[in-house]
Amino acid sequence: MLLKDRVAIVTGGATGIGRAIATKMGEGGASIVVADMNADAAQKTAAELTASGIKAAAVATDVTDKAATDRMARTALDRFGRIDILVNNAGIAGAPGWNQRSESTEDDWVKTYQVNVLGTVNAANSVIPHMKAERHGKIVNLSSIAGREGRPSLPHYSASKAAVISYTQSLANELAKFNINVNAICPGLLWTPMWEQVGGRYARDNAAYKGLSPRQVFDAMIAERIPNGREQTPEDIGDAAVFLASEDARNITGQALNVDGGFFMR
Ligand SMILES: NC(=O)c1ccc[n+]([C@@H]2O[C@H](COP(=O)([O-])OP(=O)(O)OC[C@H]3O[C@@H](n4cnc5c(N)ncnc54)[C@H](O)[C@@H]3O)[C@@H](O)[C@H]2O)c1
Repeated sequence: MLLKDRVAIVTGGATGIGRAIATKMGEGGASIVVADMNADAAQKTAAELTASGIKAAAVATDVTDKAATDRMARTALDRFGRIDILVNNAGIAGAPGWNQRSESTEDDWVKTYQVNVLGTVNAANSVIPHMKAERHGKIVNLSSIAGREGRPSLPHYSASKAAVISYTQSLANELAKFNINVNAICPGLLWTPMWEQVGGRYARDNAAYKGLSPRQVFDAMIAERIPNGREQTPEDIGDAAVFLASEDARNITGQALNVDGGFFMR
């Protein structure tokens, strides 16, 4: 119970990695606010968490809208009385249709930065005044191994995730004196709807993967790049988030933790 009696907000917490983070944090003893722009999915996830004995609430939140992230913070305070943890998980890989295109458009750059970068800043700014007043807090930002090294595919996404690492370091410096820790997680290769689309794009655009199914591209990349030969799971990311949000990580701040089976060793 690393997070006993803590209150955690998870943006994009309705599905995928965010849902696993919310579940792991709830199992670790935290009360959970599921903040997602998909209001129905957020309600469903919060109801499932509640049914499994975790205190949970849902709030419809588009992180690109500061008024919405302020409402998100207010919901946590109204329902659970405090905010100890913010997980900035909401993220996108591009503007609608990104997986059909071989080149990034201006819309891909703008939409991706609005959600992945500005959305992270908005949610952080909505909880920081409360955390400062309490002189206590943990912020965990979802970056990606794509943010570790610019790659030809999805440059707008790689750049946005590199910006998340840089912002994590700036904020960690600024907030350390308030006893607020800020760290990032860089997930590796997870078989999610996002990766299924990435795999399809690789098979179309990259000669090395021509003719493969998205799953075959995924398996080939694991064989080529991951020393331990294992794909990562949303639960792996949840475990890392629980640790970084716990007091066991009180002397860790400004870091970006690769959860990638050794894909990147820096
Ligand atoms: N899937 C991967 O392989 C992978 C790898 C590295 C990093 N990541 C990062 O992990 C995070 C989660 O990825 P995922 O695969 O679970 O994605 P997903 O698409 O399955 O889920 C993202 C969730 O965020 C929500 N969301 C999207 N835009 C939002 C907005 N503007 N405001 C609020 N909520 C919004 C969606 O409704 C959805 O519930 C993202 O930041 C992603 O970039 C994913």
